[in-house]
Amino acid sequence: MKWLLSQRIGWEIRVRTVLYRLGLSKTTDAHYLTSYPSPQNAVDILQGEWRSRLPDPLAQVKAGPLSLFEDGRIAWLVEQIGGVEGMTVLELGPLEGAHSYMLEQAGAKCITAIEANSQAYLKCLIVKELLELKKIRFLCGDFVAYLREEPGPLFDLGVASGVLYHMKNPAELLALLTKRCQRSLFLWTHYYDEALIAKNPRMAHKLTGSVPATYQGFEHTLYRHDYQEAKYMPGFSGAGGGYSHWMTRDDILNCLTFFGFGDIQIGFDDPDSKNGPSFALIARPQQ
Ligand SMILES: C[S@@+](CC[C@H](N)C(=O)[O-])C[C@H]1O[C@@H](n2cnc3c(N)ncnc32)[C@H](O)[C@@H]1O
Repeated sequence: MKWLLSQRIGWEIRVRTVLYRLGLSKTTDAHYLTSYPSPQNAVDILQGEWRSRLPDPLAQVKAGPLSLFEDGRIAWLVEQIGGVEGMTVLELGPLEGAHSYMLEQAGAKCITAIEANSQAYLKCLIVKELLELKKIRFLCGDFVAYLREEPGPLFDLGVASGVLYHMKNPAELLALLTKRCQRSLFLWTHYYDEALIAKNPRMAHKLTGSVPATYQGFEHTLYRHDYQEAKYMPGFSGAGGGYSHWMTRDDILNCLTFFGFGDIQIGFDDPDSKNGPSFALIARPQQ
């Protein structure tokens, strides 16, 4: 056994050496930095993959263009629910930890943030280290698998921004969230609207058909959304499997009501958004 292992290692080293000589592989030297330690070095481990601009004191670090660390949707959520001080929060798909950071800054007691994309997860860890975040636990894996597991922890607040329209079974995600979030659930999502999608050349060809569906007695329609070329873009922030299902706005609202979260407040209505109509909402259990 030991002999076989040493033979295998010997072969691996020979193959790697040949690949390196042919210019087809890098040596481990490529992983070593020789410059003075800096936040930019850490960010550049995933150079070209960043979506967000980092906040002070890292504003000079080159990352991405989007202002997700000062996102008006999260500021609106915090204001509408009277603050998050002392709350336990479940965040789905943190991407680069921007909303997680805002929730920690706003005083949340602890934030459990679940990210399935391994590169995004590493970006969250880099952000956590660089911004010295103390209240956030980033978990690496699928949040649907996490939510299906029973019994699971309960949270005061759920934050599901930019994730519903990446689901294959979005009604299941809404139903699972209503079981785990005791006080409020924040959602920002795209939705399907036949007339609005038809007049959007960027999206119309990606929404390719519909099927009727029922989840635990809730009847609705699923609209297939194919990622197409988007999934090859650097920093792609969707989901695996090549497609997802979108719901109509009414089906989203009716689904939340069906599963007991019928006290709903809507904001950020953007029917003409270039990536498809979108809106935000805060849903609470109806009395
Ligand atoms: C469009 S981004 C939204 C990022 C951020 N929440 C925001 O609103 O700006 C979707 C994120 O959810 C993650 N994601 C998608 N499906 C997931 C799943 N099933 N489990 C965990 N993370 C998922 C993606 O990797 C990505 O980071």
